Amino acid sequence: MAGRVAWTERLFSLQIEEPEIRFIAGQFASLALPAPEGSVEPMVARPYSFVNAPGNVPSSAPHEFLITEVPQGTLSPRLACLREGDDIWIGSAYGFFVCDEVPAAPVLWMMATGTGIAPFLSMLRTDEPWQKFGRVVLVHGVRWAEELVYPDIIVAVQRERGGRFFYAPFVSREAVDCGAVNRERENHPCFSGRITAALASGKLEKAVGHVIDKEMAQVMLCGNPAMVEEVQGLLGERGMRRHRKRAPGQITVEAYW
Ligand SMILES: Cc1cc2nc3c(=O)[nH]c(=O)nc-3n(C[C@H](O)[C@H](O)[C@H](O)COP(=O)(O)OP(=O)(O)OC[C@H]3O[C@@H](n4cnc5c(N)ncnc54)[C@H](O)[C@@H]3O)c2cc1C
Ligand SMILES: NC(=O)c1ccc[n+]([C@@H]2O[C@H](COP(=O)([O-])OP(=O)(O)OC[C@H]3O[C@@H](n4cnc5c(N)ncnc54)[C@H](OP(=O)(O)O)[C@@H]3O)[C@@H](O)[C@H]2O)c1
Repeated sequence: MAGRVAWTERLFSLQIEEPEIRFIAGQFASLALPAPEGSVEPMVARPYSFVNAPGNVPSSAPHEFLITEVPQGTLSPRLACLREGDDIWIGSAYGFFVCDEVPAAPVLWMMATGTGIAPFLSMLRTDEPWQKFGRVVLVHGVRWAEELVYPDIIVAVQRERGGRFFYAPFVSREAVDCGAVNRERENHPCFSGRITAALASGKLEKAVGHVIDKEMAQVMLCGNPAMVEEVQGLLGERGMRRHRKRAPGQITVEAYW
C-alpha cells in the first residue's frame, strides 16, 4: 500500500499502486486481505469505489479509495489498521454507475451520503459530465462537518468549471458553520439535516437555483441504501423513475450495502 490519509478516527483513504488496473470513473474494485485461518475462502474481499480519475496525472499516481470503518464489519476495521507498505490485494474494476449509462440532461444531480461521494469525485475530474450535462450539482450528506472530505478537489473543480458546478454539503448531527466550510471551499450553500428533508421541502432546489424534474434533471444516488430508497420515493412523486436501457428514466443508483 502506497499511503493512508486519516480524515477522522473512522474515515480514511488508502492509496494503492497498481498501474495495470484500468477503470471508468464511477466504477469500483474489490480490495482484499487474507481470510482468518480456517475460513472457507482464502481472502476477504469487499467492493470500494475509485476516488481518483482514470489516467491519473501524473500517470504514476496511485489509485485512491475513501473508506469508513464499520465497527462490527469484517474487512473495514482491518483496512483501517493498514499502514504504508502493508500488503493489500486489489481486483479488476467493475460496475455500471458511470456517466455513460446516464442520459444527457440540462442538470446532473450527484447525491451522496458518507463515502458514497467517492465515485462522484472521480467523475467530476473527467470531461464526460461536462460534455453531457449543462450543470452538475454535487450534494453530500454527512453526520459531522469533519466528514466533508476532499475540499481541495471540490475547489479545483469549481475553479475549472466556474458557474457550471454547484456543491451542496449537508451535516446532520451538528449545527453546520457555513463560514468554516467555505473558508476551505468557495461560497456554497450549506445545510443542516438530511438531504431528503431539504428535497421534500424544496429548500435544496431553491438554494441551488434549479428544479429537479423529468425535463431538467438526471439524478445519480450513491451511499446509504435508506437514502437511496427515500430519494427515489420523493422523486417518484414527481413522476421520475429508475433509468433502464429499455425503459429510459431519470434516476441511476448505487447502494453501498
Ligand atoms: C458497489 C459498492 C461500492 C462500495 N464502495 C465503498 C467505498 O468507496 N467506501 C466504503 O467505505 N464502502 C464502500 N462500499 C461498502 C463496502 O464494500 C463494505 O460493505 C464496507 O466496507 C463494510 O465491509 P465490512 O466487511 O467491514 O462489513 P460487513 O461485515 O460486510 O458488513 C457488516 C454490516 O454492516 C453494514 N454496512 C456495510 N457497509 C456499511 C457502510 N458503509 N456503512 C454502514 N453500514 C454498512 C451492513 O448492514 C452489513 O451487513 C461499497 C459497496 C458497494 C456495493
Ligand atoms: N460518521 C460517524 O461519526 C460514525 C461513527 C461511528 C461509526 N460509524 C459507522 O460508519 C458507518 C457509516 O457511517 P456514515 O456516517 O459514513 O454513513 P451514514 O450512517 O449513512 O450517514 C451519512 C449521512 O447520511 C444520512 N442518512 C442516513 N439515512 C438517511 C436517509 N434515509 N435519508 C437521507 N439521509 C440519510 C445521515 O443522517 P443522520 O445523521 O440523520 O443519520 C448522515 O447525514 C456506519 O456503520 C456507522 O455505524 C460512523
